[in-house]
Amino acid sequence: MIYLDNASTSWPKPTVVPETMAAFLRDTAANPSRSGHILSIKAGKNVLAARTSVAEFFGESDPLRVVFSHNITTALNTVLRGFLRPGDNVVTTGMEHNAVMRPLRRLESSGVHISIVPCSSTGLLDPDDLRRSLNSHTRLIVINHASNVCGTVQPVAEVGAIAREHGIPLLLDTAQSAGCFPVHMKESGADILAFTGHKGLLGPTGTGGLIFGKGFDPEQIDPLVTGGTGSASEKEEQPVFLPDRFEAGTLNACGIASLAAGIKFISTLGMSALAGRKQELASRLVNGLMEIEGVEIQGDPLKEISVPVVSMTTKRISCSSLAQKLDERFEIACRAGLHCAPAAHMTLGTFPEGSLRLSPGIFNTMDEMDITVNAVRELVEEGSQ
Ligand code: ALA
Repeated sequence: MIYLDNASTSWPKPTVVPETMAAFLRDTAANPSRSGHILSIKAGKNVLAARTSVAEFFGESDPLRVVFSHNITTALNTVLRGFLRPGDNVVTTGMEHNAVMRPLRRLESSGVHISIVPCSSTGLLDPDDLRRSLNSHTRLIVINHASNVCGTVQPVAEVGAIAREHGIPLLLDTAQSAGCFPVHMKESGADILAFTGHKGLLGPTGTGGLIFGKGFDPEQIDPLVTGGTGSASEKEEQPVFLPDRFEAGTLNACGIASLAAGIKFISTLGMSALAGRKQELASRLVNGLMEIEGVEIQGDPLKEISVPVVSMTTKRISCSSLAQKLDERFEIACRAGLHCAPAAHMTLGTFPEGSLRLSPGIFNTMDEMDITVNAVRELVEEGSQ
């Protein structure tokens, strides 16, 4: 199989990731930070080591400001639903995923105002447009760093500077950027960074979380979930301190330990080298697809800074049939449709059908890119019969 669905979930994982998972379940699978026995302590140490790895990876010095959750959707919901109040204005873009838009639409029905800054036809945000959309009620800016639909990377450092100038926190959705190029908490200007473990970070599903920058007081956020933390158990109120404020219930310690293994793998090989490799693969794909008559590429995937997400459409065959035939006839796995991001497809002009998305990962080869281009060519020339 040629797996080109890394934007959904990276696969295969480096062998150290499943190995760590198996070893954790075999040797350490107790509840972290609950009991005083050796296995619980060992599990807790694994989680703390992972917290430290995540903090270092994103350039945050205090690991306790890293909060784990089951995925980035939960992480984003924690901030959006716990921070915004009726009457607040939140500023976002026309390139967001439903992990942001659905919580925002829900909040809208309880009196939160949403300003959506339109992006260009390649999905790029103009920071001046964002600046103009701020008003005296704006309490939060939330943007995705890189598009899961077409790979466009937003000018987050400029957005961060505008946010700072106005004293408005910036929540950055790094679902698609983390692990694709270096993402640094401070340089990005994010006050809160949301991450997922199962994509570019090469960890398992069921992992993700938030990092709170030092300038942001997390006590402003009401926790989405409350419950046992193994700390301050004499109280029936949720602890205010990090990370416990947002980590009620037993953590996915096994997944978290394996996520740390994925991050270590990336750091050992070097983030920049891996980014270059993925970009080469995506460029080979784009250059090949652009040669096929009738194929249109969305976004600007040959731009120096983009993530390896290639989105294409053609009038000769629907993207869903194309994906199905790629799978059934060529064993090429990809994703067609709206990619849970209808807003982004509206911006790109590909709503409601969506597009065919091909997203290479570090274990793909150049030959696989060529095979995929040839398969797409054959199916496009064949048309929809
Ligand atoms: N958000 C993921 C994707 O883009 C699942 O496919």
